[in-house]
Amino acid sequence: MNSSKTFAVLFIFFFVLISSTNAHIAFVNPPFRGNDAVNSKIPPCGGSNEVNTTAITEFPLTDGQATVKVGHGTGVLLFNYAPDVNSTFQSVADNVTVDVPHDSGGKQLTASINLSKAGAKIGDQGVLQTIFIDGGVNFTYQCADLKIVDAKSANAKSASSVFGISEVAYLIIGLTSFVIANL
Ligand SMILES: *[C@@H]1O[C@H](CO)[C@@H](O)[C@H](O)[C@H]1NC(C)=O
Ligand SMILES: *[C@@H]1O[C@H](CO)[C@@H](O)[C@H](O)[C@H]1NC(C)=O
Ligand SMILES: *[C@@H]1O[C@H](CO)[C@@H](O)[C@H](O)[C@H]1NC(C)=O
Ligand SMILES: *[C@@H]1O[C@H](CO)[C@@H](O)[C@H](O)[C@H]1NC(C)=O
Ligand SMILES: *[C@@H]1O[C@H](CO)[C@@H](O)[C@H](O)[C@H]1NC(C)=O
Repeated sequence: MNSSKTFAVLFIFFFVLISSTNAHIAFVNPPFRGNDAVNSKIPPCGGSNEVNTTAITEFPLTDGQATVKVGHGTGVLLFNYAPDVNSTFQSVADNVTVDVPHDSGGKQLTASINLSKAGAKIGDQGVLQTIFIDGGVNFTYQCADLKIVDAKSANAKSASSVFGISEVAYLIIGLTSFVIANL
């Protein structure tokens, strides 16, 4: 194994390691507006206060599904909605119980979302917030930008997004192992 290959393999390996351990929580669907591990404890959106115009996702008013990957921890995952970051966020789902062991590689958790609980309407644009309360004390925040549509048109589209972030991560891990094994 020559040194540039070694470097490349280590670089990929550490990139995967860092991106999977630092991302304490991350929206898988809808996609996050920003995933900033350093500022993840800053409400309401983990340091991502601006609308991400390239990540505004069509989402159904009722009967939506949100999936969040939790790195590790024990507590609850909350889902709230507000029209923008300066408005009051209101609950749009039942609390999801989280119990993900430290060395498990993380787990994806899904919640049923009803945006009309927060007074949203079809055609609105707004912010879906998730909060992970770890051990009852450590709050971690992330947001996704939504364009609210009626349930039927949204369901037709959601079938097209098959691959989430963790699948991509597993693919990279798999490829890295393969490269290491064949050097
Ligand atoms: C906005 O969303 C896109 C698509 O998900 C992402 O690639 C980009 O990094 C996001 N922008 C910021 C500032 O996080
Ligand atoms: C929220 O309030 C801050 C501070 O007043 C302001 O800078 C920002 O533009 C506001 N954002 C939105 C989306 O209204
Ligand atoms: C969800 O969890 C939060 C934080 O622990 C709590 O304040 C709230 O009452 C819970 N909601 C329900 C419906 O249990
Ligand atoms: C969504 O929430 C609204 C307002 O609370 C309620 O009237 C409606 O029945 C809920 N729909 C579903 C599918 O849970
Ligand atoms: C909360 O976070 C702090 C700093 O990361 C950590 O030392 C502490 O163990 C955490 N507490 C719980 C209950 O997870």
